[in-house]
Amino acid sequence: MRKIQWDESLSIGVPLIDEQHKIWIKHLSDVAVAIEAIQGPRRVAEALGFLLEYTGTHFATEEKAMADSQYEGFDEHRCKHQELKATLIDLEGEFKEDGATHILAESVNTFMANWLADHIKEVDLKFGAFLREKGIVLAG
Ligand SMILES: [Fe+2]
Repeated sequence: MRKIQWDESLSIGVPLIDEQHKIWIKHLSDVAVAIEAIQGPRRVAEALGFLLEYTGTHFATEEKAMADSQYEGFDEHRCKHQELKATLIDLEGEFKEDGATHILAESVNTFMANWLADHIKEVDLKFGAFLREKGIVLAG
């Protein structure tokens, strides 16, 4: 399995958001590990629950920062968050329907590879550049 972890290539240069991304990726990794290590449906359900909850917290932080800083890309970025969230909810639905299958593990990995990393490297990075350009420092 491809290892899911944060590295410098995912840094957007905004410490508060980078720290949240590390925790977010850790939660995602926990889901993948729980499935692959056959830790049982309760553990997978718990890990998925933490991931969804943290996703909400993290997106709320970014969206508040975008609103507060009057970021022009706010609406577009928020749409991407909604898509990401819908994808995660689909994953949870897949799990509820079919259990912790190999296909679910693949979906989690695909999510990381195709969505999350792209989102951080493109959409979040743009917002990070905006904050740095304006000299705005986010308070944790
Ligand atoms: Fe974002």
